[in-house]
Amino acid sequence: MTTVWKVLVLHGPNLNLLGQREPGIYGSLTLGEIDACLREDGVDLGAEVSTFQSNSEGQLVTAIHGALGNYHGIVFNAAAYTHTSIALRDALAAVQLPCVEVHLSNIHKRESFRHISHIAPVAIGQICGFGLNSYRLGLRALVDYLNGQADS
Ligand code: DQA
Repeated sequence: MTTVWKVLVLHGPNLNLLGQREPGIYGSLTLGEIDACLREDGVDLGAEVSTFQSNSEGQLVTAIHGALGNYHGIVFNAAAYTHTSIALRDALAAVQLPCVEVHLSNIHKRESFRHISHIAPVAIGQICGFGLNSYRLGLRALVDYLNGQADS
């Protein structure tokens, strides 16, 4: 029997406004639509996907702590906190869960302040620039990683 991986998809600040927020950069899908797509993908991949969005750094830290013992890995779009939050980086380092960093936009092609990620050094990888597909590829990459760990 194959394992059903428990994956937490975390979304940071302002992503609750997807669909109406700068659609030229972030696309027209709502967060609900993205979450529904990931839950569906999870069924095919053998992953049970839970999602959580917060505009508060502290709530995201608490969600990462809460993932310990309850989830096998995290797909994380920390949004603007990517570029500022040592607390989120430290939370990921503390729980030691595999995390894939994702962004809808290509952060490396944008303003220089977006080129820095405090999440990347504690993530297993980063996917950005593909809109919804950044999340979908991130989920797939995480599940592949977990399957690989289970086989080794
Ligand atoms: C983002 C990129 C960040 O720079 C920005 O602050 C966001 C969204 C993205 O998904 O492209 O809020 O993480």
